[in-house]
Amino acid sequence: IYSQIDLHKKTGGVVPEVAAREHVLKIIPVLDQALKDAGILLRDVDAIAVTEGPGLLSSLITGVTTANVLSMVLNKPLIPVNHIAGHIYANWIFNDDIRFPVVVLTVSGGHNELVVMKNHFEFDVIGESLDDAAGEAFDKVARILGLSYPGGPVISKMAENGDRNRFKFPKSYLSKTSYDFSFSGLKTAVLNVVKEEFSREGKLSEEFIADCSASFQEATVGVLSDKLMRAAVEFQVREVHLAGGVSANRRLREVVMEKIRDGFYFNAGGKKVFFDKNLFKLRFSEDIRFCTDNAGMIATAGYFKYISVKNKSVFKNVVIANPNLNLDNDTV
Ligand code: KG4
Ligand code: ZN
Repeated sequence: IYSQIDLHKKTGGVVPEVAAREHVLKIIPVLDQALKDAGILLRDVDAIAVTEGPGLLSSLITGVTTANVLSMVLNKPLIPVNHIAGHIYANWIFNDDIRFPVVVLTVSGGHNELVVMKNHFEFDVIGESLDDAAGEAFDKVARILGLSYPGGPVISKMAENGDRNRFKFPKSYLSKTSYDFSFSGLKTAVLNVVKEEFSREGKLSEEFIADCSASFQEATVGVLSDKLMRAAVEFQVREVHLAGGVSANRRLREVVMEKIRDGFYFNAGGKKVFFDKNLFKLRFSEDIRFCTDNAGMIATAGYFKYISVKNKSVFKNVVIANPNLNLDNDTV
């Protein structure tokens, strides 16, 4: 991993040109280091997996160009991987006993989906964010509260000492049956509370920031976990997975874990039905580094994609970056 977080801290977010230049400068040194650490040479590699999209085009190009050249020169198969599929497969890095069907909540800075999988590389996207992704909401709220980038880790740290019931922020469910998400109303509600406090006090106290962080986190985690568990029941899955940068959030893990452990109420056609305890196996990356380890997760997804395809000749030596790639189309 070569992280650009310190660089993006200066601007409070990702500036595409800055990110792209760093990718160009760092990709070969990182590749060299990875091979060195693994104690292997390039020729020992069986296949190359690369992120095809979605994401910033200027950054994707660096990855696909490097991978295309390596694949051609070494004559190794090249496996295009969807970035979100990569996040999903982070849960397979250390687990070989995952049983389908699985429902995955993928929550990141740039994307937010509910995905049902009946098999490897069968992604049924049942819901997504209609505006901000959950991670983006964490980042924007952090900025409103004067906290640093990225917002997720700072907000969850502040929230540890905050009162999650102090502010009743709106939870947007869209409709009883919808699996889509919307976080822009919640963000505006935080902004309004902050503006009010500022005009009254002239500053934001540590206590206010902590309470605001905890209440915002509670509203976000509430909607995410409610929709996730409703999908688990409706699609009769065996396992419930959390994936993406926001899955590092301790409160999200805790709330989902409690619902599975203690059982939960489920709204079935307007009637409240109690759903039993311990019906689902919960997975997330125990070590939060793997929630966002792009090399690890893309390699793992690439591996499963490769072994799922019978006719290996579909893997060519060239991948074209696609900033708007859909997960639904990423089948084998
Ligand atoms: O998956 P990721 O590295 O990037 C994208 O692919 O977008 O996720 C980054 C996002 C950021 O928005 C960051 O604020 C959020 O994940 N994040 C968290 C936490 N750690 C990272 N959000 C909530 N709680 C956390 N502990
Ligand atoms: Zn991501």
